[in-house]
Amino acid sequence: MKHGIFITIEGPDGSGKTTGCDYLVEHLRQRGYDVVRTREPGGTYLSEEIRHLIVNYDGKEGVLPLTELLLLAAARHQHVETLIRPAVKSGQVVICDRFHDSSYAYQGMGRGLVEQVHQLETMVLKGFEPDYTLYFDVGMQTSLKRLAGRDESNRLDREELDFKRRVAEGYRQRFNKHPHRMHRIDAENSANGVRAQLAFWVERTLMVRHPAV
Ligand code: TYD
Repeated sequence: MKHGIFITIEGPDGSGKTTGCDYLVEHLRQRGYDVVRTREPGGTYLSEEIRHLIVNYDGKEGVLPLTELLLLAAARHQHVETLIRPAVKSGQVVICDRFHDSSYAYQGMGRGLVEQVHQLETMVLKGFEPDYTLYFDVGMQTSLKRLAGRDESNRLDREELDFKRRVAEGYRQRFNKHPHRMHRIDAENSANGVRAQLAFWVERTLMVRHPAV
């Protein structure tokens, strides 16, 4: 394989995308792909430090929406330039748990910063895009139920219901706008059902277009 592949995994909190990501990474490795797994915010030492601020900060002074977006953009720039681009260039398959669609959904729709998200994307990504995005689509009831069953929650998990609704709507809009890049996974399904959909996508799309050897 001459060029690598950049795959992102997206969806609201509680959509099961991290479990899906575990499976996808293992599945592709078994089929001979050289896989690098990473996540956003995070992925490099510096970006993981920024992630800590974004998801765990609970100081008295609130995080302003634009501050949150700028922190995410800084973490992404570092991540793309030092990890993702070089790995893809060297022929690896990069699987990233969340990427720019999350910024559209959470900061764009959730925080009302669509224009600023767009401006920063132009500056940070300069046209660089995932080859494929697996969008874990889940209903509000199911995602809330899954979140309620977790021991830990982050700053964004604790946002009000209306924020979560706007995030879900943001994802739907992105999916409608980018039907070729984004492949929908029905995440209402059981873990087995989700694994089957991922395996099907790998067999029918990835292995056909990008054979491992
Ligand atoms: P995630 O790793 O999915 O959370 P968890 O630790 O619960 O598995 O993502 C951390 C949070 O970051 C998530 O609530 C969404 C948020 N986020 C944004 O708001 N914008 C972004 O651009 C990204 C990449 C993440």
